[in-house]
Amino acid sequence: MSLLEKINNKRIPSHIAIIMDGNGRWAKERGLNRAHGHQEGVVAVRKIVEAAIQANVKFLTIYAFSTENWNRPDDEVDALMELMVHAIVKETPDLIKQGVRLLTIGDYERLPNKTKTALKECITQTEEGSSITLILALSYSSKWEITQAVKKMMGDIQNNQLKSEDLNEELLSDYLSTKGIPDPDLLIRTGGEKRISNFLLWQLAYAELYFTDTYWPDFREEHLYKAICNFQCRERRFGKTSEQIEKEQRDKLNNL
Ligand code: IPE
Ligand code: IPE
Ligand code: MG
Repeated sequence: MSLLEKINNKRIPSHIAIIMDGNGRWAKERGLNRAHGHQEGVVAVRKIVEAAIQANVKFLTIYAFSTENWNRPDDEVDALMELMVHAIVKETPDLIKQGVRLLTIGDYERLPNKTKTALKECITQTEEGSSITLILALSYSSKWEITQAVKKMMGDIQNNQLKSEDLNEELLSDYLSTKGIPDPDLLIRTGGEKRISNFLLWQLAYAELYFTDTYWPDFREEHLYKAICNFQCRERRFGKTSEQIEKEQRDKLNNL
């Protein structure tokens, strides 16, 4: 039985977020430069998008470049931006074929013009995609995103478009760049580190966390399916007790 067959189709995480880490170490262990690791990382992205579609995952958010990554050496940042343009242009026809809808979150304005143009094109060309929404977190950090949301909210209060007493969690969510996208059910981080690195801090409030030592360039469909199987073994209680959850499930089955 393949791992894909072992997955329970009734409990697929509808949104998976991935911190794709370990490209540099993957390259270093092979005596290659870091850019080579990032190139191999693109291959893994392609495979994982395909695998996620196969498993019927509806939203996949991948952390490709953080606000903090702007502090890396200039040559690495330049190589990453070049690679991004190249990969987006090259992959667009396949994304369309597979029914992928591309979205981005992050500080778009900081990106080089070439990257902005390539992204805009790809977003327009894939807007009809309905098999999966792929959200590229680029020049993204959660603290940046929340700060932007607060600024916008304060502006709307000043312009009388919003009353401060109307503020609630749902409304705050709508000011984030992930508006309309359900919160991730499962967060995967590759590369062995066990931290969130300023990623989706608000949206991950109740996500299941899965850490693996596998470096991102080695991450393939079997790794994704293993993470999904692991997710399916967990009980998501959202603050309730196990007994309450079991009763809810029984009642749901009885009402079918
Ligand atoms: C993740 O791999 C990709 C980006 C952050 C752009 P790293 O480049 O962080 O790889 P390691 O962690 O140094 O191995
Ligand atoms: C997190 O990886 C950001 C991305 C995967 C894009 P890093 O490798 O930059 O994370 P830290 O700084 O080591 O936590
Ligand atoms: Mg890293």
